[in-house]
Amino acid sequence: MKLSGKRILLGVTGSIAAYKTVYLLRRLVEEGADVIVVMTVAAAKFISPLTFQVLSKKPVPIEMFDLNQGSEITHIYLGRNADMILIAPATANMIGKMASGICDDLLSTILGAANCPVMMAPAMDSEMYENPVVRRNISSLRQIGVDFIGPQSGSLASGATGIGRMSEPEEILSFAVDKLTAHNDMEGKVILVTAGPTRESIDPARYISNMSSGKMGYAIAGAARKRGGKVIMISGPTALTPPSGIDCIHVTTTEEMYTSVMNRLAEADVVIMAAAVSDFRPVEKSDTKIKKGESVTLNLVKTTDILSEIQRKKGRQLIVGFAAETEDLIENARVKLKSKHLDLIVANDISHPEAGFEKDTNMVTVIDKWGGITGYPVMPKSEVADRILDHVLKRMGPGNG
Ligand SMILES: Cc1cc2nc3c(=O)[nH]c(=O)nc-3n(C[C@H](O)[C@H](O)[C@H](O)COP(=O)(O)O)c2cc1C
Repeated sequence: MKLSGKRILLGVTGSIAAYKTVYLLRRLVEEGADVIVVMTVAAAKFISPLTFQVLSKKPVPIEMFDLNQGSEITHIYLGRNADMILIAPATANMIGKMASGICDDLLSTILGAANCPVMMAPAMDSEMYENPVVRRNISSLRQIGVDFIGPQSGSLASGATGIGRMSEPEEILSFAVDKLTAHNDMEGKVILVTAGPTRESIDPARYISNMSSGKMGYAIAGAARKRGGKVIMISGPTALTPPSGIDCIHVTTTEEMYTSVMNRLAEADVVIMAAAVSDFRPVEKSDTKIKKGESVTLNLVKTTDILSEIQRKKGRQLIVGFAAETEDLIENARVKLKSKHLDLIVANDISHPEAGFEKDTNMVTVIDKWGGITGYPVMPKSEVADRILDHVLKRMGPGNG
């Protein structure tokens, strides 16, 4: 059973191809998946919800405002509890709604709140599929990490022959298996991630910090966990909730982060330093709040360079650093890679409008000490996290952890 323990939300939309989804559901269940089916109102015109209910052994939610669903907010908890949302068939309408952020029924609202991988198996007439708006919607969903399976060419429900047929259930199943099981490739590895900014107090009310939101580090921690790794995250102050299932240590200052990293370093197979620590701290912290109107001169001293310290204590670990730059990105990153004796460095141009601090997307170049350099387009940080982990695994090799 290839999908044992995997939770799949199977979304069914209004296409004739919904009859094939009955078989897809059977196969998913046979492979051990825990499937909940959510239908659109249009889908229920094609196939009775009862069919899916019997095969999944669960009620089939359709309506957004159904009081029988209990007290939890259905669209949030359904999406949150899934390892994958699979929409098969996916109508032009649902693809367009997700691409535009429209949430006007239960399934589109689940997609709007989704924080797990989303896969779509489109089904529609060729004219619809070739429509530039549909193509554009598919392309923009791909850019945010949605996977598309098919459609295929063949005979269509309209009687015509052309592209638009939903992929066969076995193909969709195998795609889902690949996507969900590829995520256990960090099993047995311990990943130490630092995230967020650090803060250095000036007085009881003020501090020096930086713009880091922690999103990149949290995304790496979440991705490593999802791929089966044991994750220790040392986080500076952020507004984010740590991913579930990880060991999160909250710190405030660079010194605290340094101490925590050193305390846990020996456990780690991989150390990913995604935090943007405060490089300086005031020489003295005032015990009382500095009064307004006074002219203040801050004397700053360098904080501990955690990356350099790790390098000295480094044994078998793979060490990954980040270089947030505004100019000469690759050159500066290469210098840092070498001077800190890192294995990999993730360079990002924080002056790019869709990359860097506080953004949900990032555009990175991964450079390794063996001469490899890979540039990526703008992607969601969750996707960037997976690409970074792919590089880490490639460099660790089997039995290297
Ligand atoms: C018989 C019939 C077949 C349809 N097949 C498709 C289809 O394969 N793909 C599609 O995008 N729309 C198809 N539609 C149109 C959709 O059902 C319609 O756009 C609907 O609003 C989709 O709603 P939903 O996305 O909420 O399920 C079909 C409509 C009818 C009446």
